[in-house]
This record gives sequence, structure tokens and C-alpha cells, in this order.
Amino acid sequence: MTDLPFTTIEAVDAVFLYIFGISGLLLLGITATMVAFVIRYHRRRHPRPQPSPSSKLWLELVWTLIPTLIVLSMFWYSWEGYLKLSDVPPDALKVQAEGRKWSWSFNYENGRSSDRLYVPVGKAVRVEIISKDVLHSLYIPAFRVKKDAVPGIRTYVWFRAPEAGSFDLYCAEYCGVAHSSMVTTVEALPEEQFIAWLEQSKKLPATDAPRLLTRHGCAACHSLDGSRGIGPTFQGLFGRQTQVVSDGREQTLNADRDYVRRSILLPQADLVVGYPPVMPSYEGQIPEDELRSIVDYLCSEALSTAPAEP
Ligand code: CUA
Repeated sequence: MTDLPFTTIEAVDAVFLYIFGISGLLLLGITATMVAFVIRYHRRRHPRPQPSPSSKLWLELVWTLIPTLIVLSMFWYSWEGYLKLSDVPPDALKVQAEGRKWSWSFNYENGRSSDRLYVPVGKAVRVEIISKDVLHSLYIPAFRVKKDAVPGIRTYVWFRAPEAGSFDLYCAEYCGVAHSSMVTTVEALPEEQFIAWLEQSKKLPATDAPRLLTRHGCAACHSLDGSRGIGPTFQGLFGRQTQVVSDGREQTLNADRDYVRRSILLPQADLVVGYPPVMPSYEGQIPEDELRSIVDYLCSEALSTAPAEP
């Protein structure tokens, strides 16, 4: 039918349809029998209970063996599918997916990284999943794959995008306040386009601060336009008189460069009043030049407009 090699979609859908089909048949069969019995053995037809045989060996064997065989066939079929999901084709492209509160980033072997998962159409992709902090779960419904990201161990999924397009990618394990914003996409590109993308400048120029904010997951919680997110907006941050809790005591401080930098590395040190203490530390997570560029940007004219009332 199609000359595309095997995909994880087929592995899962076949099993799903098999189990769903059997369940549907059983539902119909059992319901029909039940209704027929209700009519046939209605009290009007049989005002007095009839004596019935206490057991019938062959009947009991049949209704034990047939369901056992059906259930075993479901197991066998699912097991085959499970093996196909675990067996990564040897030529698969390797990508590392890193989950953290609350965003995904994807790292390629040549050093490229991205906040969307770019893949070539038709090629097998092996995604190695790690977590920086808590349990997350990488879920791509279009390719029928879902696997937990567990701190301290590596898990993986593989899939093959059958056609070009943009497919949803979710976090499917509740991981804190902004779990629901841990959403991005898989971008399946024709192979030449994918290679061109992969070869584009591997590092973002350290000057591309707005994209660094997305890359490192800051933008998931801090807006640039004054709107309130999980954390305070970046707009008008620099020089703002800010109410914070430091070491259990409330104080007002002036948001200067030092404060901005400290808030990235040690977010809990001076916690802005009215926001939950949920931001993870970025100590050692952001290369120094990128960190400097982010701090420069957050303290720049570009963001100096005072924020709207939250
Ligand atoms: Cu990460 Cu939910």
C-alpha cells in the first residue's frame, strides 16, 4: 500500500483496534443475550421456577477456555506491539529531550538545540528523555508515544513521522503549577529542509536574548508584555521597586542587575511577594555568555515600559 517503513502508529493502532473490536463484539453479544434472557425467562412465562441442572462440564469448559484464549491473544498481540515500540531501528536519528519546570528543550548530536522537536519526515527518530527536576512525561499523540521523564534515569521513545507537518507534544505527568503550559510541537520537515535547519548556526548568538528566554524556559512563566504569569512579568523589571521576601522577612528592593542575576541563579533568595516559590535554580544551567546576554536584555530599554496593573 505505502512504501513507508514501519511506524509506531501502526504498532499501536493495530492493537487498539483489535482490543476495541473484541470489546465491541462482547458488549453486543452479552447485551443481546441478556435482553433475550430477560424476555424468554420473564416471570409471566414461567410463574414457577423450574429445577435446573447444577452443573454442565462441557459448558463450563467452553466459557472458561474461550475467554482465556481471547485474553491471551490480546496479550500476545500487545506484547508484539510493545516490542516494536522498544526496538529502535538502528539508523535512527538521536535527539535528547530535556524536561524541566516548565518547558521542553531538544538537543541534537551536533550541538544544535531547540524548544521544538524538529525531525525529518519518514526517518526513525530516537528521543532520549531526561528530566532536570521532577517527573514529566513526553507525549506525542500523533505518533502514539508517551514515556515518563524521570530524574536520574534515561528513558526513550522512537517514532517516524509519516508526513510533513506540525504535531502537538505535551507533558502528560502533572509536574506543578505550569504543567499545562509545558506544550510544544514536533515539526516534521522534508529531509533536505531538516538538514538545512540542523546545520544552521548551532548556537544562538548570545545577543538573541528573546530566543534565549524561550530556549531556557523562562518565557513559559514570565511574560514580556506586562501580563501576569506563573512569575512576575519581565516588562519594566529593571529599576522597579519590588516587594520581596528575603530569608523570611519582607523588604522592598530596587531591581538592579545584581538582583536580576541573583533571581535567575537563586530564585528563592528574594522572592517577589504574591508569587509561589516554584522557580527552579538555574545555577550551572545557562552558559555564562548567554546568562549575561539575558541579564543585559532584562535590564535594557527594550523592556523598560512600566507594566500594566496585574
Ligand atoms: Cu512537566 Cu507536566
